[in-house]
Amino acid sequence: MLRGRKILLGISGSIAAYKSVFLVRLLVIAGAEVKVIMSPSAKDFVSPFTLATLSKNKVLSALADEDTWANHVMLGRWADVMVIAPLSCNTLAKMANGLCDNLLLAAYLSATCPVVAVPAMDEDMWLHSSTVKNIKTIEGFGNSVISVRKGELASGLYGEGRMAEPHDIVTFVEERFFRSEVLKGKHALVTAGPTYEAIDPVRFIGNHSSGKMGIAIAEALYSLGANVRLVCGPVNKLPRFKDIGVTSVTSAEEMYNACLSHFVDADIAVMAAAVADYTPVHVSPGKIKKNNDSIQLELTKTKDILRSLGEIKNERQFLVGFALETENENENAIKKLSEKNADLIVLNSLKDEAAGFGKDTNKVTIFDRDRNAYSFEAKSKTLVATDIVDLIIKKLNEKR
Ligand code: CTP
Repeated sequence: MLRGRKILLGISGSIAAYKSVFLVRLLVIAGAEVKVIMSPSAKDFVSPFTLATLSKNKVLSALADEDTWANHVMLGRWADVMVIAPLSCNTLAKMANGLCDNLLLAAYLSATCPVVAVPAMDEDMWLHSSTVKNIKTIEGFGNSVISVRKGELASGLYGEGRMAEPHDIVTFVEERFFRSEVLKGKHALVTAGPTYEAIDPVRFIGNHSSGKMGIAIAEALYSLGANVRLVCGPVNKLPRFKDIGVTSVTSAEEMYNACLSHFVDADIAVMAAAVADYTPVHVSPGKIKKNNDSIQLELTKTKDILRSLGEIKNERQFLVGFALETENENENAIKKLSEKNADLIVLNSLKDEAAGFGKDTNKVTIFDRDRNAYSFEAKSKTLVATDIVDLIIKKLNEKR
């Protein structure tokens, strides 16, 4: 969402300025162009040299630099969004009252783009009536405020006043200003992660799926405006956008039931979960003791969710499956596509260095119903998700 976007980052004097270094890094990694303006006192907390290196742009601070005037008006017009993080109590008070004694404030006052303020201060300052009033005032001017978090403060006290974490700021900016409307009004169902099939109260049959690929697809669909429902097996990380609806499940049977109930509304369904193919016939009510030298588990096939959705899907619905293969990859993937009545199948091979469970990268080939193959380079799962979703949109447009 941030690729090619222009972000003007204003840093004012607060110990939380160290987090702005990470913020610049995250914005740049996400593909944004970043220019940094520092208030004079911000330089006491972080070095302009670090910020210039990370942002790949000169850091601006003075209204005039020797004989050159810093064009604050054009800075405000250049930016798609101005983020002021950290926003100190002092800069907040000046913003609320229209003061303009440094370049950051001049750029703020002349900015024609939206402004996001991310305060950071000690709890007593944060709770002071003048701060409460100033925050309300700048919100009244149309600025967005990402409120402070609770935690350990620079003073050593514990309370409200910490600046929001850099990844939360990035997510806020993406969601608020750059969510596209390409899939607006569409409902998407995505599965992710492993399933756990209980053997007894403490043991299960599972797999190494981290859920990263499915979550990245859910986020990519959401970024393009879709309403997304993620049915997710046991994973460590959930989507970063809070408006993605998450149904957490454990077993293949639970995932099947959740998918069937949500599929009714879905225009797009992407089955990225590594669903267990077999589940124990009997689940021991008590922990199985190691009384015998060997034991046998009787397993029965789970319901195939992708196949079931393929059987009931209607003309409007677009169904995408995954295929994880170790041999005869292309043939097996195409066979799965037609047997399960999917519209696309995403093949990832465990033989590929970049692909596989738990990794942050993947390398996929996607097949359509006409056996066309779309091969992609190895890349981050976030970018793979974008490729998959772009192809879904292309195919949906062709269907029209
Ligand atoms: N899948 C499913 N329900 C299952 C098993 C798999 O919905 N019970 C889905 C997966 O989410 C994936 C696709 O089917 O989208 C293919 O999964 P994969 O593990 O590659 O193949 P299987 O159909 O399980 O067949 P096999 O293990 O024999 O290759």
